[in-house]
Amino acid sequence: MLKSIEWKDGRVFILDQSLLPHRIEYIECNDYPEVAEAIKTLKIRGAPAIGIAAAMGVAIGAERLKVETRSEFLKSLNSIIEVMLRTRPTAVNIRWAMDRLKRLVDSNSGKDVSELKEILKREALKILEEDIETNRSIGLHGLPLIKEGINILTHCNAGSLATGGYGTVTAPMFIAREKGIRFHVFVDETRPVLQGARLTTLELLKAGIDCTLITDNSAGALMKKGLIDLIIVGADRVTRRGDVANKIGTYSLAVLAKENNIPFYVAAPLSSIDFKIESAEEIPIEERPADEVTTIMGIRIAPEGVKVKNMAFDVTPAGYITGIITEKGIFTPDEISRLQG
Ligand code: MRU
Repeated sequence: MLKSIEWKDGRVFILDQSLLPHRIEYIECNDYPEVAEAIKTLKIRGAPAIGIAAAMGVAIGAERLKVETRSEFLKSLNSIIEVMLRTRPTAVNIRWAMDRLKRLVDSNSGKDVSELKEILKREALKILEEDIETNRSIGLHGLPLIKEGINILTHCNAGSLATGGYGTVTAPMFIAREKGIRFHVFVDETRPVLQGARLTTLELLKAGIDCTLITDNSAGALMKKGLIDLIIVGADRVTRRGDVANKIGTYSLAVLAKENNIPFYVAAPLSSIDFKIESAEEIPIEERPADEVTTIMGIRIAPEGVKVKNMAFDVTPAGYITGIITEKGIFTPDEISRLQG
């Protein structure tokens, strides 16, 4: 399994996912702006993974600060956190990680600068470790859905590359495979940046899971033909009432799933639930650069001067969702608000 991010020898190493599946190269980040840039440019992506990266970014940024007093430290720390929060707006995991680090610093009011640096580093590593555990629990809870012989459809990449460990959507699949259950996965290529084609198929093939790559436009026809038994997708943000923001195209799949009576599940850790908001309208939807649409892997496919709208995410209303697979179990969207800790 490829590690998406690692803290080693006082530096953060990020697997450059923009080069996959062709090259495996890690970017060495020596300070927080490099981590922020890697998040913005999708070198690391996927909601839990960018939460972990942002936390490590803050930890390494704090480590490099040359200030003596606690108040100078806190001021600089807040600006580093702001930089991380501005990288990508839709996944709530970045804000979740930043809030967690802020609370920790607040609760350690007696500690000096060097102690705070150490505390932040330990917490960032803990966020990574916990995510690995969380993935495993999501996998165990989702496992009963993976019945012998079924065909699953997934979109984008909610695999190990998008998290610290087993992935969210892929966790039940990896465990099912380990247990010898046979099943097959259709993978949407996921335009514009092809996370499905480049990343999810790579992960499934590596794990020995039978999979087939399809164009995004094929999903509806396959459902209509009765070739899909189950859909599982990830989430960037789940609201209190169970609306789900995820990679653009997820909403279309959910509507088609309902039309064709196919169970539609979302796999997401509690860190992707935004208990502060009720409805989907409150979720900021990231719009990304035009060249992601006018080019494919650097090759221009559209005429110069064409207008482009590139929304990275859409929102699926709770009513289309059969269940949300979390580390605490599978819940219907209307049960989500009860999970608030
Ligand atoms: O733009 P991306 O690649 O960060 O989008 C990723 C997704 O939409 C995933 O489905 C989501 O973050 C869940 S990852 C476990």
